[in-house]
Amino acid sequence: MHLLPQTRQLRALHTIIRDRTARREDFVFYSRRIIRQLLEAGLNFLPFESWEVETPVGRKYDGLRFSSQICGVSVVRAGESMEAELREVCPSIRIGKILIQRDKVTKLPRLYYSSLPNDIAKRHVLLMDPMLATGGSALAAIQVLLERGVPEENIVFINLITVPEGISALCKRHPAVKIVTSSIEERLNENAYMLPGIGDFGDRFFGTD
Ligand code: PRP
Ligand code: URA
Ligand code: MG
Repeated sequence: MHLLPQTRQLRALHTIIRDRTARREDFVFYSRRIIRQLLEAGLNFLPFESWEVETPVGRKYDGLRFSSQICGVSVVRAGESMEAELREVCPSIRIGKILIQRDKVTKLPRLYYSSLPNDIAKRHVLLMDPMLATGGSALAAIQVLLERGVPEENIVFINLITVPEGISALCKRHPAVKIVTSSIEERLNENAYMLPGIGDFGDRFFGTD
């Protein structure tokens, strides 16, 4: 579990996107700034190997480089909000999709569709969903990855906000999955929305309701 350092800048970004009166363009712009930080932090959990280069002034630099193949997988719909940022930091990355929707009444996740790289079992996976509430959707998405042969320890879950209920659901079932988040909220309300929360991320990002 990795929580981004709660800097004043990060809290200021959160303040903009938590505001119920935020304009959609601001919601999109500032949540993307946080998503960028989450992805940069998530990349740090991938394997590296030693790699030496020569600098322009003729000295060796004893460095590192990524040592594994990776891919992104977004949990549609809200997870798609993270794809553009992922392409900015990893331009040629393959991106799979898993379509899961919470039932409006029961809040239970339903899996509709998935499309993933053929060789995903050999890759480290950045699994993207900005919301981890009851944990039902994330568990269903991880199940799809495990069934495709991805080892649990190769999954890094990139998440914008979560609650203790979601974290414990995920950690209990899949202790080897790494979670990178920017905020741990107080709790869920009776409708399985996070408090203080952000409302419905997908609706606010894509302009639906
Ligand atoms: C939202 C969100 C997560 C899920 C989290 O999706 O994007 O996928 O809820 O809730 P959970 O942890 O209780 O499962 P939703 O089904 O509302 O679809 P959307 O992405 O289209 O908004
Ligand atoms: N999905 C959201 O978009 N927000 C929540 O608080 C919970 C699930
Ligand atoms: Mg939604």
